[in-house]
Amino acid sequence: MLFKDEIPTGKIAWESPSNIALVKYWGKRAVQLPQNSSLSFTLSKALTNTVMNFTPAIRKTGKVSFFFNGERNEIFEKKTDIYFKSLTSIFPFIKQLDFKIYSKNNFPHSAGIASSASGMSALALCLCNLEQKYFGTLTGEDAFYKKASFVARLGSGSACRSLYGGAVLWGKTGTLPASSDYYGIPVLDVNSVFKNYRDTILIVDDSSKKVSSRIGHALMDNNPYARVRYLQAKGNINLLLETLKNGDIDTFVKIVESEALTLHALMMTSNPWYMLFKPQTIGIIEKVVAFRKSCAVPIAFTLDAGPNIHLLYPEDDEAMVLEFITKELIGFLKNDYFINDKVGKGPERLKL
Ligand code: PMV
Repeated sequence: MLFKDEIPTGKIAWESPSNIALVKYWGKRAVQLPQNSSLSFTLSKALTNTVMNFTPAIRKTGKVSFFFNGERNEIFEKKTDIYFKSLTSIFPFIKQLDFKIYSKNNFPHSAGIASSASGMSALALCLCNLEQKYFGTLTGEDAFYKKASFVARLGSGSACRSLYGGAVLWGKTGTLPASSDYYGIPVLDVNSVFKNYRDTILIVDDSSKKVSSRIGHALMDNNPYARVRYLQAKGNINLLLETLKNGDIDTFVKIVESEALTLHALMMTSNPWYMLFKPQTIGIIEKVVAFRKSCAVPIAFTLDAGPNIHLLYPEDDEAMVLEFITKELIGFLKNDYFINDKVGKGPERLKL
């Protein structure tokens, strides 16, 4: 807590990326802890930019105003207010401040591109930065990012993987002793072929999801395949860690596609079941598989909790893949829209 005359006025800004899970987190326990470990690539172009203004609280408990893409957004305001209130034991100063948050995305939100990952990680970074600035308790880089990842996780599980660039693992995994269920860690032993890997995100539908991830995770509690899924994920994490190390792209393709289809199969086998695939999603998958068979490009598809497709492939194949998209896939896309992204370096503090 701060003494009354120490309560600051100021602003802090961070830009944080989304991430794409290669092994999926689907199913949780206790307070935002994963039922299985997950591993993602951090992206570089799908970003949230958040400016957090703070002033001494007028009322007893601080207040949050939230502006999204330039307009007041009451839904995000309510969510952020609940999130901030849940964090007062970690950051007691939250109660002493009023926040005016300006956040913007350069990609559609709630459409299965993990906008909660970039949004929540940016907010967590702003809060940790505030702590660092006024309390000096988060000194080393390690402590700073670990705490930011921990705090981001409480907002949205997958957000805890957006704190680092490259490949990031979340969840206790025997082969990596530093791993934890409480925060993400960077995976450092990665073959050069994966360092600049491409992710072209094909937008089939940019409207809001009809079933939230929160509900999807909860449905795993009674999914008849849950137990075997968590075992499968454990095996896939170990195999993927090995694959990232040895650069075996064929195995990478197999794991990534199986994970994407398993995620959606779990939605379809929940009670009640639901389906986020669109006819275009299946059309694209069929074309991608045919393209892979017809040439030497080891392209893989994956999906988050939505109908949009992420195409993952080595940077050397970019020209061929872009030609394939323009010739054969563009007809499936909403307004011909795709984001040509790649593995990124992680969040960045913005100078104001
Ligand atoms: O972080 P949440 O609660 O929005 O869950 C995200 C789950 C998936 O995006 C479907 C998979 C993942 O690991 O990112």
